[in-house]
Amino acid sequence: MAGSNDALPVRTGFLGWLNKRLPVDQFMRDQLTGYFAPKNFNFWYYFGVLSLVALVLQLVTGIFLTMHYKVGETTAFDSVEYIMREVPYGWLLRYMHSTGASFFFIVVYLHMFRAFLYGSYKAPRELLWLFGMFVYLALMAEAFMGYVLPWGNMSFWGAQVIVNLFGTIPVIGPGLVEWIRGDYGIADATLNRFFSLHVSAVPLVLLLLVALHLVALRQNGSNNPDGIEIKEKKGSDGKPLDGIPFHPYYTVKDLVGIGVFLVAFAVVVFFVPTFGGLFLEGPNFEPANALSTPEHIAPVQYFTPFYAILRAVPDQQIGALLMALSIICFIVVPWLDRSPVKSTRYRPLRWKLALAVFAVSFVALGYLGLKPADGLYVLLARIFTALYFAFFVLMPLYTRGESTSRVPERLTFPNH
Ligand code: HEM
Repeated sequence: MAGSNDALPVRTGFLGWLNKRLPVDQFMRDQLTGYFAPKNFNFWYYFGVLSLVALVLQLVTGIFLTMHYKVGETTAFDSVEYIMREVPYGWLLRYMHSTGASFFFIVVYLHMFRAFLYGSYKAPRELLWLFGMFVYLALMAEAFMGYVLPWGNMSFWGAQVIVNLFGTIPVIGPGLVEWIRGDYGIADATLNRFFSLHVSAVPLVLLLLVALHLVALRQNGSNNPDGIEIKEKKGSDGKPLDGIPFHPYYTVKDLVGIGVFLVAFAVVVFFVPTFGGLFLEGPNFEPANALSTPEHIAPVQYFTPFYAILRAVPDQQIGALLMALSIICFIVVPWLDRSPVKSTRYRPLRWKLALAVFAVSFVALGYLGLKPADGLYVLLARIFTALYFAFFVLMPLYTRGESTSRVPERLTFPNH
């Protein structure tokens, strides 16, 4: 198989002409056929490429939606209805974009969870993790502003709740809220700037951050389910003994994952585009109305864990602070986790339990964020918020001096 030091193929004709001007063959060799990835990637390794697929889907459908969408508080809602009813395949574009947003978050959450499973945020991949976190923050901003654009009633009230959170920042808060809105309330000016940011600035930042994420990934290569650095065991030919060329092996494997993803995506787009109100909420089929608050203001499913944390405490200022901290916590994980071992496979039961409690808390908070903030729901939200934070805050303690099992020298890979 090819390696990154192997000679490039001799080309004549058009390919020869092209390669003299654009390093196509060199790129193929350095990044694909000569790039060795660990041979034991499993199910969890599909979600990086699926995040890329989701990103492209959002960019393409977004460009076409922008051709028909008309920003403005008197035109936005009607233009979305027009897209749904009159524009040829407009309904498809819109449902692909709204479903794409939800799928994007689901695959990104699974992608992040994999990093916890296999310690992918640990040295030497801390920066890769940080770029991932910045991608995630940009993605949240992008999704939030996109949700405001149809100017439905939940767009309006969702924006109201989220923008007002900035008002809880001491001293600068109230001024900051007015500055973000560009008016004394959520208004035309707010919609205009969210549109501008949603279609230009944030996508550009996202693309730049994803590019940095991938460059940082290539610098050290992927981690793997055993958490062993394959570059440390090379054969006499200089190629990692436990590596296989990314192309054709993983390009083909990824195609299978992309196929399954697209089938699931199509099922939702064609049969359950609102997903029972989880992907598109009922009140958003009514135009924005400053005089009528939806019965329960709840964000789309991908933000509900953080929303549940916000509402778990009665004091709005503390709630907003906890919500911000619940996201920021992820950034410092590479420095909180003190275990010398990367993969959960070789870590003790106490880490496995902590990770399981965290995963359950995250999903439970996601559910509770959809429910009204009263009675048992608030009590449960408080318990799961406490468990959620305990996972991060106590991490330096329960990961210190872990009695890990022996990590094998080489990848474990059942023959098949
Ligand atoms: C637009 C969003 C994103 C895209 C397109 C993306 C893309 C990718 C790709 C293609 C890979 C290599 C394939 C794989 O390991 O699955 C990867 C690896 C990785 N990503 Fe992301 N990613 C995104 C968001 C994130 C986020 C939000 C985080 C975490 C905060 C993250 C953390 C990581 C880590 C730690 C790895 C290395 C995993 C390993 O080698 O075990 N990524 N990413």
